[in-house]
Amino acid sequence: MPGFELFSDLERKEVNDVLDNGVLMRYGFDGMRKGHWKAKELESELEKTFGSNHVQLVSSGTAAVSVALASAGVGAGDEVIMPAFTFVASFEAIMLIGAIPVLVDIDDTLTLDPKAVEAAVTPKTKAVMVVQMCGSMGDMDALRAVCDTHNLLFVEDACQAIGGVYKGKPLGSIADVGCFSFDFVKTITCGEGGAVVTNNKEYYLNADHYSDHGHDHVGSDRGAETHPFLGYNFRISELNAAVGLAQVRRLPEFIAIQKKNYSIIRDVLSQIPEVTFRTVPEGGEESYAFLNFYLPDLEIARNTSKAFKDNGIDVCFHYYDNNWHYIRRWDHLKNLKSLFPISNEVKAGLKYLETKTFEQSDRFIARNISCLIKLSWTEDEVKARGKKMADIINSIL
Ligand SMILES: Cc1ncc(COP(=O)(O)O)c(C=O)c1O
Repeated sequence: MPGFELFSDLERKEVNDVLDNGVLMRYGFDGMRKGHWKAKELESELEKTFGSNHVQLVSSGTAAVSVALASAGVGAGDEVIMPAFTFVASFEAIMLIGAIPVLVDIDDTLTLDPKAVEAAVTPKTKAVMVVQMCGSMGDMDALRAVCDTHNLLFVEDACQAIGGVYKGKPLGSIADVGCFSFDFVKTITCGEGGAVVTNNKEYYLNADHYSDHGHDHVGSDRGAETHPFLGYNFRISELNAAVGLAQVRRLPEFIAIQKKNYSIIRDVLSQIPEVTFRTVPEGGEESYAFLNFYLPDLEIARNTSKAFKDNGIDVCFHYYDNNWHYIRRWDHLKNLKSLFPISNEVKAGLKYLETKTFEQSDRFIARNISCLIKLSWTEDEVKARGKKMADIINSIL
């Protein structure tokens, strides 16, 4: 998945443009810039990539989720439904704005189960956030239907799935508001960065102002700008945007490499009858950032994961035992370990985590192995890797 594997003169040129004129900030300093507006240019490129009316760059994917929710008016005491399998950023971003993350089961897409979402809706629910994990997607039509029935905001975290498509639309551009991360390990990177994507002009303008201290960005004198509402600083720098600008132009090339490498390994593993693959909803095409497969049970998956590590098969994850991506190991959330006091409303809202179990998600995550697809592997390396993986699995079954 990581674009940083293929850094080239293209990235260097864009960064040098910024260093040559010395304006590292994305707003203001019009006279000094010599025409370079890297963040603005990257926003336009992303609008074309996603076929969306508006893109607002921010400082990270986590910031993108917070800004997206805030821009649509989600805040204190509101419930946001999210999956139990995701990155910790999902609940962090929700809690940052004083809202309550409501974790629900995933299905064999490895993303939100629409039935679990329906069952979790309460009068306090304001939004549903699907997280397009590991390069693939949820059943977007079914999730949209739940949101429409209950008049809920539909948010799409596509941080791990840039380049994936559902029914002809790029992931991240389908829900009311989409979020991307361009951190160092994503398919395209800015070093650090993120984006909010939407066709809704009001949400976009809110995101634009909110991510820069509430500045209205009218005119060319920052000191004279007004603040229609309170904001914070989630800005991206020109240096980060410059890297992303070179990378986004290479996205089709990166996806093609991912697809080739993914397909070689998948073809080999498909020969093993006990190996099955995640469900991709009808009309969906993965970004090929990861190859996700299921083994018959937890013990086989654990042994396979260990044997992969022992035999030099890197970047394959068994999320059941991993601290970052699954509710099972998020004790800091379950025990509300916070540096500062959390509001009583959020504390009460999270009480369900003391008793709630996630058996359905356990069944999928326990048996799942998720392999990152790298861009820098040669064809021979990918073939050798696929064969070694198959030999290891066959030796364990
Ligand atoms: C699904 C998902 N959402 C959000 C994020 C947060 O992105 P960032 O690291 O840019 O804050 C990540 C990062 O790994 C992610 O995987």
